[in-house]
Amino acid sequence: MEKEHVADMIGNAFQAMEHSYAPYSKFHVGAYLKTKQGHYYSGCNVENASFSVTNCAERTAIFKAVSEGEKEFESIAIVGRAEGGKIDFCPPCGVCLQAMMEFCDPEKFQVILAKSEKEYKILLLKDLLPMGFGTENLE
Ligand code: THU
Repeated sequence: MEKEHVADMIGNAFQAMEHSYAPYSKFHVGAYLKTKQGHYYSGCNVENASFSVTNCAERTAIFKAVSEGEKEFESIAIVGRAEGGKIDFCPPCGVCLQAMMEFCDPEKFQVILAKSEKEYKILLLKDLLPMGFGTENLE
């Protein structure tokens, strides 16, 4: 992926983070998902007074895309920071990795973890979730 494109996706993830609703953890996350068709979906974490109802930024973006009829994804940029804290890489939680596993090719899906538009790393889903359980395991 070209540097400019990665920077653009990270910038949009930071913008998505602005909408984060995280009054309980005060940890704000933004995600920006690219589909194979070349469309984009943003997501933020949405918390709830009943804590387990919380939805992560990554799943917000994935569910938005699926609900619009898109199920094939190319990459996702993720940013997160604690209120008043310093920025660090924000890896997706296990539940979000499993949600990715449902729709993404672990050998190809790129996960961009970023501290800024210039400081980032790109991992494959298979690196974050080796031997993930997927739909073919049910066959
Ligand atoms: N969170 C995400 O949105 N994505 C992740 O992958 C890690 C965790 C959110 C959930 C919760 O609102 C807050 O970060 C603290 O766990």
